[in-house]
Amino acid sequence: MIDRQRFKAALRRWASGVTIVTTRAGERVFGMTASAFSSVSLEPPLVLVCIDKQAHTLPWIVESGVFAVNVLAKEQRELANRFATEGNELVRFEGIACRSGPSGAPWLPDTVAVLDCRVAVAHDAGDHWIYVGEVRATEVAAGREPLLYYDARYRALADH
Ligand SMILES: Cc1cc2nc3c(=O)[nH]c(=O)nc-3n(C[C@H](O)[C@H](O)[C@H](O)COP(=O)(O)O)c2cc1C
Repeated sequence: MIDRQRFKAALRRWASGVTIVTTRAGERVFGMTASAFSSVSLEPPLVLVCIDKQAHTLPWIVESGVFAVNVLAKEQRELANRFATEGNELVRFEGIACRSGPSGAPWLPDTVAVLDCRVAVAHDAGDHWIYVGEVRATEVAAGREPLLYYDARYRALADH
């Protein structure tokens, strides 16, 4: 078995965007920061997110069967931290004026893009679940740049 630190060190060399995966159960909204996001298929339109089995948001995605992937803008690193902080689950959305996507999942304001999904299938994968979502609606904002994550730090795009 590979050493955990070496594994993590290799993963830190993968640059990604940052998303907040949200869902809704009745009047209650839930969300968590996730960078383990990927496109999967064009036809049908599928994406995936990998979610820790310990995540508080997880059972609500199971219950609702829907989620939205909110792709964060470079100005939204505080939001990324807020939605990655344990213990603040009940106040994470305080002061944030969300809209509801067609699925009912919250769409955060001022993001780069949002993909509204219905859970297509979930795969058991070690200490995470892989949630594959069928994308039912999207929205893209013009003129905003994404928040990036690399080597355990937030970054922004730079031209070559
Ligand atoms: C930049 C960043 C990326 C993250 N990516 C993921 C991810 O892809 N999947 C995951 O399960 N947790 C990820 N996390 C950790 C969760 O956001 C964190 O455990 C959060 O507290 C989970 O919230 P919940 O337990 O209320 O659902 C990430 C955290 C940060 C800061």
